[in-house]
Amino acid sequence: MCVRKQPHIEIKNLLDSLSNDLKSGDKHTWILNNLLRDLKAIERRMKSGEYADTDFENRNSFDIPRRTREFFRYFRGYMRQAQTWKVLLKNLPMNSFPSLINICPGWAPKIELALHLSGYEGQVILFDKNQDSLTSLMDFLEFFEPRFTLKTVLSDVYSLPKPTAKLVIGNHILDDLLLNKFCQDHNLILEDVYESESTYKEIIQKIMTRKLSKEFIAETAQALQAFCEPGATLILTQYPALAETDLTLTDWTRFCHDFLLALKAIFLQLGAVDEGTTVLKGLETQTAKYFSAEHAIVLKTSPYRQQLDL
Ligand SMILES: C[S@@+](CC[C@H](N)C(=O)[O-])C[C@H]1O[C@@H](n2cnc3c(N)ncnc32)[C@H](O)[C@@H]1O
Repeated sequence: MCVRKQPHIEIKNLLDSLSNDLKSGDKHTWILNNLLRDLKAIERRMKSGEYADTDFENRNSFDIPRRTREFFRYFRGYMRQAQTWKVLLKNLPMNSFPSLINICPGWAPKIELALHLSGYEGQVILFDKNQDSLTSLMDFLEFFEPRFTLKTVLSDVYSLPKPTAKLVIGNHILDDLLLNKFCQDHNLILEDVYESESTYKEIIQKIMTRKLSKEFIAETAQALQAFCEPGATLILTQYPALAETDLTLTDWTRFCHDFLLALKAIFLQLGAVDEGTTVLKGLETQTAKYFSAEHAIVLKTSPYRQQLDL
């Protein structure tokens, strides 16, 4: 008769056997990294209580229809964003921009799909501090054979030197800059925040317990201005993202939107001109748009370099 062992003994045996197996030394780094990530995720979910309901086993099984549905849901989202961005780009003299910078694009193509659909032929500079994000984005873009050329710059928004261009785009980056700042101040790893719903929510709540710091707003304005050649077009958006609506993070969406408006006020003080009315026209009549004019700012920066008093 087979006697079932108690789960904690089975777990211990399994971990022993796994660690013996891993000692064999012929395991690829990606296997070890994935295993470590999965185990850390389990630990986090156990601590937060989320592990009471786990879809972990489901996710590890081979369910093609579910994976396809999920993939399409994301891809539909990217395409809707790209179509929305295409409406904006149509109102800009794209041929007059030999290059443009996409700040913190992350791992998914959104602006790049819009540029591809618009037939842009210049150079697209992808600026992000995470190599995995840039690699994943470049891999994805290879499928589309865009007419534009790509250059990646691995660096921090708040560091110098940085590339400059006549068109600078930051699509939904203000939440990321806030999360990143919190992680830096508290010695946390930003990528871990994106991988855990509970950590993400917890950190957002912590950030919102304080008013948006004036110094950080000014620092961010200065950092963004440093990407802009004099008289450049700077476009920033901050709309309710899928994760925010799925997790009903309305206060967070508003917090980040206030950040957007605060930045706009600083740029106007620095002599920028608001070009929103011209460039964002067309958005309101677009059906199934991803964001509206109120979620975007379009500024023509001053033709003279203005110094911000920090
Ligand atoms: C969630 S992803 C994508 C955000 C994206 N723009 C979007 O469309 O939602 C955020 C990216 O911002 C990058 N990031 C955050 N703070 C940064 C900083 N201070 N400097 C450079 N990259 C940063 C991260 O490395 C990550 O790849």
